[in-house]
Amino acid sequence: MDSDRGENGDSSHNHVSKKPKLSAFISEEEIRQEFSHHQRGIARINNGSFGSCPASIIAAQKEWQLRFLQQPDDFYFNHLRKGLLESRTVVKGLINADSVDEVSLIDNATTAAAIVLQQIGRAFAQGKFQKGDVVVMLHCAFQSVKKSIQAYVTGAGGSVIEVQLPFPLTSKEEIVSEFRKGLEKGKSDGRHVRLAIIDHITSMPCVVVPVEELVKICRQEGVDQVFVDAAHAIGSVPVDVKEIGADFYVSNLHKWFFCPPSVAFLYCRKSPLSSEVHHPVVSHEFGNGLAIESSWIGTRDYSSQLVVPSVLEFVNRFEGGIEGIMMRNHEIVVKMGEMLAKSWGTNLGAPPEMCASMIMVGLPSRLFISSEEDAMRLRSYLRQHHGIEVPLHYQAPSDVEGGPKDKDGLFITVLTIIASLGMQLINLLSSDGVAKCFLWNKELVGSREEQFSMEQCLFSLLMLLRACMVSK
Ligand SMILES: Cc1ncc(COP(=O)(O)O)c(C=O)c1O
Repeated sequence: MDSDRGENGDSSHNHVSKKPKLSAFISEEEIRQEFSHHQRGIARINNGSFGSCPASIIAAQKEWQLRFLQQPDDFYFNHLRKGLLESRTVVKGLINADSVDEVSLIDNATTAAAIVLQQIGRAFAQGKFQKGDVVVMLHCAFQSVKKSIQAYVTGAGGSVIEVQLPFPLTSKEEIVSEFRKGLEKGKSDGRHVRLAIIDHITSMPCVVVPVEELVKICRQEGVDQVFVDAAHAIGSVPVDVKEIGADFYVSNLHKWFFCPPSVAFLYCRKSPLSSEVHHPVVSHEFGNGLAIESSWIGTRDYSSQLVVPSVLEFVNRFEGGIEGIMMRNHEIVVKMGEMLAKSWGTNLGAPPEMCASMIMVGLPSRLFISSEEDAMRLRSYLRQHHGIEVPLHYQAPSDVEGGPKDKDGLFITVLTIIASLGMQLINLLSSDGVAKCFLWNKELVGSREEQFSMEQCLFSLLMLLRACMVSK
């Protein structure tokens, strides 16, 4: 990619600058080095679960760990707080928050759910909310979030309404309309909707949710609080917390922003609510605001939170910084998704404009996957026998009345293919990576009109996924 660029990093092929080279983007070889610790022979198409952390960031993290171990007291009294403030300041800039006080660094999205939902549970316990008051969320909310609701809200007297999204989706209006119905139901019988939990990008199945619009509707409908679970957002979609307008917004930094596990930010909009939220692990700083509470939750390794400024430097080595990375990931994943759907005679789970760096593709019905267990078995098979890590999601036909069916007239299973950095890298490192996939697929399964055997389908899946391998 770099080789296509003019001397000053200008991607125009016609322009030859006479100026000396001032800066260069990261080279292909440097990218290779940054991820050379990845196990060889594994196609990681599952960046959405655990992300991937480059070698230079692992080195920066080690440096922070050593600084602590070399002189812990000096580190604790003079450096830790300052370092964390720098990281929070970077995040504040990335998400357009008003104040760094609104930004807390925590371990992960699951911790954020505990912070928000424990506060809701306390409001029930203190009689601020009445028994039967409602939490509205999407039916495909992340399992750990659902369990947190069960633990902190249902147990305290709250009830839950799940908004069913009709996958495959064809437009964002479908989400808006189902969400409105959920709020109406929540407000029936004189109940109050105390909290709406909205995913910014759902994971299984995956789709980008029109979160700004849904938050506006919540405000119009008098929902007390809005929590956006944006575990996948930073590094996948642009984030402007002021425009989104939620009370709470969490994103992991270890999924699509190259941080080591585990670190996330939780944005809490400045309001009277701010003093009601607390870190679930109580320590010396209890009562000093969530951001400060979170900066010391007992002796532990804070290095993953301290490397955020180094990660910003890392992403800025790429053309277009994090926006450039997002754009290229999106382009590649859409290309891959459309190619698979076309050759299998299935469809995408949502239109490309409703995808970011992850995309859903219908799996051919001839694979005869008819349960979540079948999907898990195939996933394990792909990992154990072919070194392919790809999330598979089974969707029962009863959930998708009227479709989706493939060309054999059978209901299709939804296969979630998650574009990872691997997809981007293969495109950078082997410019014909995607073209190769097209070619192999054509050779293996022929034209769309042909009958596919189960073996053909599986084989083409394997070959296509293999084409995405970063290190061979
Ligand atoms: C939508 C969503 N929310 C929450 C989480 C939980 O993230 P973590 O395990 O980092 O807490 C995930 C993880 O994939 C997710 O996809």
